[in-house]
Amino acid sequence: MKIALASDHAAVALREKINEHLRDKGVKTNDFGAFDTIAVDYPDFAIKACESVQKGESDVAILVCGTGIGMSMTANKMKGIRAAVCSDTFSAKATRLHNNANVLAIGERVVGMGLALDIVDVFVATQFSKEERHQKRIDKIMKLEN
Ligand code: RB5
Repeated sequence: MKIALASDHAAVALREKINEHLRDKGVKTNDFGAFDTIAVDYPDFAIKACESVQKGESDVAILVCGTGIGMSMTANKMKGIRAAVCSDTFSAKATRLHNNANVLAIGERVVGMGLALDIVDVFVATQFSKEERHQKRIDKIMKLEN
């Protein structure tokens, strides 16, 4: 699995921690920054990571900003992307199982570092359930793109 990572200035520390955490586990990452804490616009970074998923260069993306909300709003405007902002591991698991989310967003100002890494681990370890009832609902979401 290859994971795209992106943050704005508000979540550089969390993005770097997630990158280190994933690489320690042998997971490959495509890191799109931001690489310092100078103020930037979160959509610019969300777009780069989501484009990597759209092109198939990354399997999923993990986007972090102050709240995770701006990143998830941006990501959900992009074709083929299903982003979920999660502040707990139950939601991280459920959004993979039920929604087949391919983007996880987390807020550095919302959750602590330890919980954020647990959320990442659960998201990465969980696969879509492939149950028909879930696929049918996802298809209805994806139809909105047309
Ligand atoms: C930046 O101040 C903050 O607005 C951003 O990181 C994020 O929380 C937006 O949703």
